[in-house]
Amino acid sequence: MSTLRLGDLAPDFKAETTNGPIQFHQWLGDSWGVLFSHPADFTPVCTTELGTAAKYHPEFTKRGTKIIALSVDGLTSHLEWIKDINETQNTIVNFPIIADQSKEIAVLYDMIHPNANDKFTVRSVFVIGADKNIKLILTYPASTGRNFDEILRVVDSLQLTATYNVATPANWKEGEDVVIVPSIPNCDIAAKFPKGHRQVKPYLRITPQPNKL
Ligand code: BEZ
Repeated sequence: MSTLRLGDLAPDFKAETTNGPIQFHQWLGDSWGVLFSHPADFTPVCTTELGTAAKYHPEFTKRGTKIIALSVDGLTSHLEWIKDINETQNTIVNFPIIADQSKEIAVLYDMIHPNANDKFTVRSVFVIGADKNIKLILTYPASTGRNFDEILRVVDSLQLTATYNVATPANWKEGEDVVIVPSIPNCDIAAKFPKGHRQVKPYLRITPQPNKL
């Protein structure tokens, strides 16, 4: 078992997926990635999650982010299940779902929490940056479907931080003001943040979202 932490290199692996075999790092290329696990095929919450992920797929693509799901069932089962997802969720799943019957990848990413369930993965989410490092880890129980608006929101926040030296405050949403990271000294703010800023406290400096018109 490996314990992955933020900042670690996302482990590379070979996998069978519903879109063909992949080598994970090669499949990611220069993109960001979201890898998320599901407890089992033909289960109700997972069905709604994969349908939702399919509907949000274009939004992830707009952000240069590839999405890929995993469950420890086999390829034939995944392909049959996708037909049900497409039918019941009124969508088309066209991102890959990894068939991890050996549980090798699930173990590599610490997605099996034996005290919750020793056979199936929990609902893990890994956001991986273009540098292949892990930027976010979420762990949900089997009974709670994830919020894909939140996953998109985190990708937006992480990408803003990577590009503009800003962080995002509590409950931040796309378009709202952001905060200047503490490592930027006051003397550099005018050059780096031409839209202006307001200092609430010396450690709390607010600026409009840099990439919004
Ligand atoms: C589900 O996806 O619906 C589910 C899977 C395992 C346990 C509970 C719910």
